[in-house]
Amino acid sequence: IDFNLSISRRRFVLAAAGVAAATVARPASSMASAVDERRIRVAPGQARFTGSSGPLTPVWAYDGTVPGPMLRLRQGEPARIIVENGLDEETTVHWHGIRLQNAMDGVPGLTQPPIKPGTSFVYEFTPPDAGTFWYHPHANSLVQLGRGLAGALIVEEAEPIAVDRDLLWLLQDWRLAADAQMAPGFGSAMDAAMSGRIGNIVTINGTVPIDQRVIAGERIRLRLANASLARIMALRFEGHRPVVVAIDGQPCDPHELEDGRVVLAPAMRIDVVIDMQGDPGKRYAVIDDYYDGLAYKLTTLAYDTASPLRTRPLDAPLGLPRNPLPEPDLAEAERQEIVLQGGMMGGGKLAGVGGMMGMATPGMNGGAAWAINGMSMTGDGHAGMAPRFTLKRGTTCHLTMRNETAWWHPMHIHGFSMSVLSRNGSPVPNRTWQDTVLLAPKDTIECAFVADNPGDWMLHCHVADHQMAGLMTVFRVT
Ligand code: C2O
Ligand code: CU
Ligand code: CU
Repeated sequence: IDFNLSISRRRFVLAAAGVAAATVARPASSMASAVDERRIRVAPGQARFTGSSGPLTPVWAYDGTVPGPMLRLRQGEPARIIVENGLDEETTVHWHGIRLQNAMDGVPGLTQPPIKPGTSFVYEFTPPDAGTFWYHPHANSLVQLGRGLAGALIVEEAEPIAVDRDLLWLLQDWRLAADAQMAPGFGSAMDAAMSGRIGNIVTINGTVPIDQRVIAGERIRLRLANASLARIMALRFEGHRPVVVAIDGQPCDPHELEDGRVVLAPAMRIDVVIDMQGDPGKRYAVIDDYYDGLAYKLTTLAYDTASPLRTRPLDAPLGLPRNPLPEPDLAEAERQEIVLQGGMMGGGKLAGVGGMMGMATPGMNGGAAWAINGMSMTGDGHAGMAPRFTLKRGTTCHLTMRNETAWWHPMHIHGFSMSVLSRNGSPVPNRTWQDTVLLAPKDTIECAFVADNPGDWMLHCHVADHQMAGLMTVFRVT
């Protein structure tokens, strides 16, 4: 993407709207502006996860709600988001999955100074890709994300696919104590070295879901986003056949899943299209059965008794227009490898399930449980992190990620979307592009991306405990 082009295009749009270019840096107050502008306040708040009569849980919230407000932007059109920090600690906002200018990426110390309590920061970017994205802090991430700071960011297609309803399920997992307060112990050594802080309740859009009302015959585009700290989910829609149309905001060849399970690791988004072909008046469970022996019913598709909207599925194409992603040139690619190390040995899908044979020690700093190529970067991303590797702008990076640990890691890249080439030597079908790729124990994944976006970028595990405890690195594009 040519960012200079988008900046001058924005100036042009502003000029065309009668706004002087000199006002660009300041928030527009009175005049109608071509820039889509909004304000978000970060502050402590309260949530009722179990509905209006349930107990209150103290949370940290964007604009007082958990999850934060759904932001809807338009592809290729500039946006300005002013973030005010009403917390007692520093924060930032990271626009997860958006290929934006490095200075807007929200990594404290690396791409911007942290937003101090009582101050604000103006984020300005033009989303190049349409799709389902999200936003969250990149400061004290485990605690801030874990206390509720997350929201969906939808970038609308110029021409969306034809559906009856476009829905979002932002999924969050919480570890609550018996009194509905946030359970203490964020960052315990146990969580850090094993599966991360997996909780005991899961919410959809901020509440423990009861029923989702649907109408027979309707076609729904369902945007699934997993904003959990650590919980991996595998959703099965009983009696239904979801068709995957996009992963991590990037359209893929529409396809049904072999076993019907939509696997969402933390930070992943999957857009599915579901034709509601159940019977009027009937109920169908949505099950999350990712962890062996710990399946639970997430929610229920509850059909209205009304007669079907239509008797056969809508006859409209499911393929979304592709985003303008640069095509990797594998013949000329620069190869890089990162090896994930550390954690408890033995493993098992959930803390306590597998053998615990003591901590692996890849030679790390204090507090670190994990490493990448023998080096642990802990925390959220700070100044002075030497890049793991440097890419010349415009080159294709052929990135191999090898998981030597006994645990699951959703590896996330900032600033880019990666074409996923292979998993354990087998090609990955359906041409997927992802910013977050789940590696099972001992998995090797090959990906490729064009390093077209200059700056220092994070590459880390999105299990927040793992990131904080060393499973993170930085690379540079010059
Ligand atoms: Cu969604 Cu560096 O994170
Ligand atoms: Cu990100
Ligand atoms: Cu991890």
